[in-house]
Amino acid sequence: MIEVEHFTKRYGDFMAVDDLNLSIGEGEIYGFIGPNGAGKSTTIRFLATLLKPTSGEGRIAGHSVTNDPMAVRRVIGFMPDDFGVYDGMKVWEFLDFFAVAYEIPRLERRRIIGEVLQLLDLTHKRDDYVNGLSKGMKQRLCLAKTLVHNPPVLILDEPSAGLDPRARLEMKYLLNELRRMGKTILVSSHILSELADFCTSIGVIERGKLLASGSIQDIQKQLRSHRVLKVRILNENPAQFEYILKNHASVKAQSVNTIEGTLSAEFEGDGPAQADLLRQMMEAGAIVEAFDEEQISLEDVFMMITKGIVN
Ligand SMILES: Nc1ncnc2c1ncn2[C@@H]1O[C@H](COP(=O)(O)OP(=O)(O)OP(=O)(O)O)[C@@H](O)[C@H]1O
Ligand SMILES: [Mg+2]
Repeated sequence: MIEVEHFTKRYGDFMAVDDLNLSIGEGEIYGFIGPNGAGKSTTIRFLATLLKPTSGEGRIAGHSVTNDPMAVRRVIGFMPDDFGVYDGMKVWEFLDFFAVAYEIPRLERRRIIGEVLQLLDLTHKRDDYVNGLSKGMKQRLCLAKTLVHNPPVLILDEPSAGLDPRARLEMKYLLNELRRMGKTILVSSHILSELADFCTSIGVIERGKLLASGSIQDIQKQLRSHRVLKVRILNENPAQFEYILKNHASVKAQSVNTIEGTLSAEFEGDGPAQADLLRQMMEAGAIVEAFDEEQISLEDVFMMITKGIVN
């Protein structure tokens, strides 16, 4: 549904995005994650037909972003990362303004505006001025605006930025709801955990380069070989058992160390390999209080990817 091929954007000598490729299938929610200045907005603005690439191509629902921007605009709803000021405009007028721009007939506009206001829980704010809305409501209104022409693809640049935890959660529910409605969604954030539990795939970008892209399971699978095994031992001198870890094929020997009764090591094996390690330790006389794999949090995943530990 969304394809990017060799997208490169340079500002003078500065490489903002460097040869980025990605492919997002129909019905996916793709989380586009990276720290500040990584190139997320640059890529998103390119896809939204608002930025000329230095080189490369993008396609949305088969339409070329560079050669047929009008066709692309009809199939996307775009939510930018900044929210303009609309002095003296009421909520319904704001939505009507966009509906007119999309050439939706008057009668239909009324119905559609009613529907999107309801979906985004803004019906009670219909006649309020946009400027008087809270930040969370403004963000929801901005999302409402992207829906008036019922596009199959949504491109959302940090829709949760600046929201409190409750409003973030609401935004998450909304995106899930939109996915159930069959939308394909590209959503950016610099917070991985915010996206991870409802995205079907993610891409991690840093300094203009896409470091990893794929389904969450694929990326976690790549990381499975970077687990840390922790063994808590009650014997006097726990380090005496380090040799068992060091000599085991599933352990990186140089990673083994002991801190206050806990042996730790990078582990690359499977379940039976773990069981074998445990057995060897017990046979050698170790009193094992705990034997476990440290869970890698999604934040760790992000740090590992951006540090180049995995790719
Ligand atoms: N018009 C411009 N002229 C020069 N440099 C720019 C321009 N727009 C963006 N950049 C630079 O390109 C890089 C990528 O910017 P971009 O806005 O895409 O990052 P981002 O990932 O969206 O970051 P953030 O999380 O802060 O929104 C940044 O270093 C930025 O300073
Ligand atoms: Mg940005």
